[in-house]
This record gives sequence, structure tokens and C-alpha cells, in this order.
Amino acid sequence: MNHFLDIHTTDKSDLRGMIDQARTMKDARAGRPKGAPDDELPLDGRMVALIFEKPSTRTRVSFDVGVRQMGGQTMVLSGQDMQLGHGETIADTARVLSRYVDMIMIRTFDEDVLYEMSEYASVPVINGLTDRTHPCQIMADILTFEEHRGSIAGKKVVWMGDGNNVFASFLHAAQQFDFSLTFCGPQQLDPDREFVDMAREAGVDFTIQRDPWKGVDGADLVVADTWVSMHDAQSSRERRHNLLRAYQVNDRLMEAAGKDALFMHCLPAHREEEVTSSVMDGPQSVIFDEAENRLHAQKAVMRWCLGA
Ligand code: CP
Ligand code: NVA
Repeated sequence: MNHFLDIHTTDKSDLRGMIDQARTMKDARAGRPKGAPDDELPLDGRMVALIFEKPSTRTRVSFDVGVRQMGGQTMVLSGQDMQLGHGETIADTARVLSRYVDMIMIRTFDEDVLYEMSEYASVPVINGLTDRTHPCQIMADILTFEEHRGSIAGKKVVWMGDGNNVFASFLHAAQQFDFSLTFCGPQQLDPDREFVDMAREAGVDFTIQRDPWKGVDGADLVVADTWVSMHDAQSSRERRHNLLRAYQVNDRLMEAAGKDALFMHCLPAHREEEVTSSVMDGPQSVIFDEAENRLHAQKAVMRWCLGA
């Protein structure tokens, strides 16, 4: 049994195995209705709990569909509707759920909740996003990049904007998939020092660049995310927008990156804020492949967790 909590704490060859398996499983389903089962049913008879303490469209639907395609069943639970949201401890919740279900995916605020859940659960726990990380997203992003451009090793990935949870998982992935990573954003929204130090100690080719035009030079992939994450106070919105406006991904910036650079965004996007519609809907954008690949990548993650 394996927990999937973070990319940097997961074995490098296992991560590569998941990406390759995701691609094989995706290819095998080509042209099939989304509700049709896979040829193999590795989750046959398994029950998976999907817990959400924050909103979600992609994570919720892609996990639910993925489990069903592999022959399992799901229950989607809102944290607020569980006793968890009303004082029951994480440890007790983890032990109780482990008596009913074969795997738990949780989207939560504090990373400690995820880690405590994994400590007390006797079934695999998957990180469906915390305030600090979003590893399932980055697995889908690696799969997407490699479908379009081949191996990501040695490529230049450029992040535009807030040094947030999705960026942190990119930093973790740079170490495991051997790509170079440039952070372009204001100092006030720099990524977590602990993650940066960890990446540098691991030998990641990591650069902080305040000038977006210099940052995108030679980029193979440009990535943006919302300027105000779900865990950020709405009162910080104006300040964040003011700090981040210079880092909007628009046609001029993509032109500076070069015509072969891809554009990604984990979605949901705020059109005309962190990215313009012309980029999102333009020829360099692979955002909907990226969204689709949440499904395929997570199916491989779930099989790895269960050894199935
Ligand atoms: N990218 C992502 O995790 O989307 P949702 O918030 O819709 O799940
Ligand atoms: N950084 C965003 C990602 C959403 C999928 C957030 O945490 O809200």
C-alpha cells in the first residue's frame, strides 16, 4: 500500500512508471464512451472516498470517472457535511473510513490534515490539493507536456505569477523529472523558502527572475495559475492583482517565449487576469488536454497506491 502525498517524497522510478502507465491506459481507451469500462478492471470491488473541504470541478469529476472506468465505486463527501467538519478528529475519521473504503482522496486546507489522515488510515491516502501542494495536477501536466513534446527532462519550464501550491508541486517535480524551472513573480509572492532550499539542495536548476520578458526566453512551457487561490483571503485580492498584473500571460509574452513554447494552466482560469483568452484559446495552449489528463494520470496514481 502506498500513499500519494507529494511528488518529492515518491520514488522517481515509480513516478515515471505512473506517467507511462497513464499514457498506455489513455491510448487503450481511445474513441470509447467516457462511461465505458476499461478492458482491465483493477479497481473491481473497491470503494473510494473522495473528500472535499474546498470546491472542485476537475478533481472531483476526474477521480470519480477514473475509479468507475477501472471497475470501482466512489462516494463523494463534503468535509462540511461530515463530523470531520464539526469537531471529530482527523485520526478518528481516518480509522473509521478505513473500515468502509479501500482508498481515500482528500482535498483540504492545512497540509497537516492530509499527513494526519495518512498516518492513521490503514488504506492509501491521495493528496487532492492542500494550501501547500497539488501533486496530482503536476502528474497530469508532465503527461500532457510529454504527449506534445516528448521527454520533459532538460526542458525549461517557466512559471508566471504567485509562488503558490501548484508551483510548489512543479518545484518538487523538477527534482524528480529533471527539468529546469524558472519562477517569474514579485518577491512578495515568492515560493516557500523551505521548498526552494530543498530543490536547490537536490540540485534542481531553479531560477528566480523578476522580469517576465527575460524569464520566458527559451521557454519550452509557460504556466500560469489564478492570482487568488482558494486559501487566500478575498481581502488580499486587490493587493495581489496589483503585484501580479505585470506577469499576465498574453500574446506578446507568448511571442517572446517563442512559437514552440506550450501554455498550461491547471484551471479554473480567470480570463483576462492571469492569462488572456487569446492565449488560452490560441495555438500554444494545451489546457484542455491538461484537464483531460487529470483523469488518466490519476488512474495510474490510484493503481500504484493499491498495487493494482
Ligand atoms: N485544477 C484543479 O484542481 O481543478 P479543480 O479545482 O476544479 O479540481
Ligand atoms: N492555486 C489554486 C489551484 C486551483 C486548482 C488554488 O489553490 O485555488
